[in-house]
Amino acid sequence: MIRIGVLVSGSGSNLQAIMDACASGLIDGTVAVVISNVPDAYALVRARKMSVPTVVVQHEAYPDRESFDEALAGKLEEYQVDLVTLAGFMRVLTPAFLRRFPGRIMNIHPALLPSFPGLHVRQKAIDYGVRFSGCTVHFVDEGVDTGPIIIQAVVPVYPDDTEEELNERILRLEHRIYPMAIRLFAENRLVVEGRKVRVKGLEKDPAAFLVNPPIEGCTL
Ligand code: GRF
Repeated sequence: MIRIGVLVSGSGSNLQAIMDACASGLIDGTVAVVISNVPDAYALVRARKMSVPTVVVQHEAYPDRESFDEALAGKLEEYQVDLVTLAGFMRVLTPAFLRRFPGRIMNIHPALLPSFPGLHVRQKAIDYGVRFSGCTVHFVDEGVDTGPIIIQAVVPVYPDDTEEELNERILRLEHRIYPMAIRLFAENRLVVEGRKVRVKGLEKDPAAFLVNPPIEGCTL
């Protein structure tokens, strides 16, 4: 059973999916602590409702990123976490923090990386006119949204989508794939080889494809 630390800043719907997956046995693990840098984040309410320990570490209370990250890492170590998951955590972590949990930090991003890293990515995907977007769970490295990709899920994007509509479509899948990535980690099935993450015991489906808009009367 792995001990998971979840870092949050906002609503915590991914946190909820992770806690539910632990409770249902999908993940052989437990959320050991939820840490927020925002004191009134709704994620903290969700954690308390599930009797999961919460900690607030406010970045404003620290003179620099190094000391903030030091405080975060100290708390995660105090709760003896095996895996650190970022779930809507709106701070970039320092290299010193990453070295404390090598190969043990994951993030979820609401786009198909390496397209659309950074912020406001749903609107950017709509404005660009892409036909597909989605979400990506990846290990965290020193870049912003650049680490080795564990799992991705794809949704269609429509030209008249609003940001909210696309967000809703993507979030539904985030709540499916984040627990799956954590489950694979807990089962020790993720092997990082350079940029690539090999999943042990994976079935391939080389015939799988998606087309948007659908091609009427045409077989690919
Ligand atoms: C999600 O869209 C996630 O991809 C991004 O931040 C958002 C967090 O949402 N990193 P929530 O707090 O889990 O509801």
